[in-house]
Amino acid sequence: MELLTKAPKGTMDLTPGVTEKWQVVEDVLKSEAELNGFSEIRTPVFEHTELFLRGVGDTTDVVEKQMYTFLDKGGRSITLRPEGTAGAVRAMLENGLYNAGYPVKLYYLTSCYRYEKPQAGRLRELHQFGVEMFGAADPGADVQVIALGLAIYKRLGLHDVGLQLNSIGCPACRKEYHKALKEYFSARKDELCETCLSRLERNPMRILDCKSPVCQEIAKGAPKITDYLCEECKAHFGKVQELLDALGIAYELDPGLVRGLDYYTRTVFEFPSKSLGFALGGGGRYDGLVEELGGKPTPGLGFGLGLDRILLALEEQKAEFPEPVRCELYLAAMGDEAQKKAFVLMDKLHKCGVAADCDLCARGLKAQMKYADRIGARYTMVLGDNELEAGKAELKNMQTGEKVKISIGEDFVDAYLTASTAQDDLSF
Ligand code: HAM
Repeated sequence: MELLTKAPKGTMDLTPGVTEKWQVVEDVLKSEAELNGFSEIRTPVFEHTELFLRGVGDTTDVVEKQMYTFLDKGGRSITLRPEGTAGAVRAMLENGLYNAGYPVKLYYLTSCYRYEKPQAGRLRELHQFGVEMFGAADPGADVQVIALGLAIYKRLGLHDVGLQLNSIGCPACRKEYHKALKEYFSARKDELCETCLSRLERNPMRILDCKSPVCQEIAKGAPKITDYLCEECKAHFGKVQELLDALGIAYELDPGLVRGLDYYTRTVFEFPSKSLGFALGGGGRYDGLVEELGGKPTPGLGFGLGLDRILLALEEQKAEFPEPVRCELYLAAMGDEAQKKAFVLMDKLHKCGVAADCDLCARGLKAQMKYADRIGARYTMVLGDNELEAGKAELKNMQTGEKVKISIGEDFVDAYLTASTAQDDLSF
């Protein structure tokens, strides 16, 4: 029975009361992205597995250990997206979005799926807000994306979010670096975990990102990529820092930051939450990814922010959210005729965009008023035979207790709007 009544491990329901908070956060994310010229893209929740093998990289934890992969009934290998970038690149290419000119700026709000060990801030169904920019090689693009991420945290009131920054160079400067890493790790081969041992030949940089404490300790003494950057990568990174300085954005250089996905080149960054002790977001440049996935060589960059973690951080600091208005006017009715009238008036209000409700559970008047109170109705109106006969009913302000008689005839909506605004004005 538990299988029927419990959501799968690492997933959670978002229920009324919580969804409104998510909506507030999502509105901030969307509006900041749109301020910076990004437009929304929606891509399928599943893609061909090959996309992630090629895109994310087959030596990453995400691909090696965490993907939800299955054969569909047609025998195709399908994977639930573990992240949003690869799908965004595929969609950009498939839909020819580059035809409208560069830079192409996209944002998305999606669920992603990773088979992880669930714990605080680590879910199997996670939610990300991401932005991706294509066709902009300039360091200014890196800074716009980073500044956008930080502006979002600031607007949400999350003031303890930092910026960790590194450059992991390009394939040219990585050749020498890989050699140095192989040499360093080979000398301590016996201590490495099994996964890292298999990565030593294929992709030694991944060892720097291993979660095993022993490998992490060994990685501390490894050669740093920043000592191997080619002149172009060095100049790019220098310019990124110069622009961040010009914007007054503080950052911490972290030469050990390599990120967990293979597509990154040059600038990589994370947004750590000091109070929670983990990253609320991260991203970077991926100048080789579009070509890797079948497009023309095109620079790209972006970030993913964990929504679940943002909400956790807001909860942690007891952030206050505006109370959602679920009901402006509750129409309580006594008797069949009055109920019919309540429905007609409610319909009129809905057509004018006013949230209104009435009884649907055959409750008595007292229970209806109790319900109105529970849903936080701002006004109530009782309809009975007397009101129907008089063509007027009392509008009650539930906060102040003030009552005013208004028409329930043809001019009801106008009368309601005037009376309710007038009372709002009074309460100021
Ligand atoms: P990522 O660092 O794997 O990057 O994920 C981005 C953010 O998603 C993390 O910083 C974290 O806040 C959140 N996140 C990741 N895994 C989980 C999880 N299991 N539970 C809860 N939250 C999680 C990417 O996914 C890249 N696609 C970002 C990117 C976009 N880079 C360039 N463009």
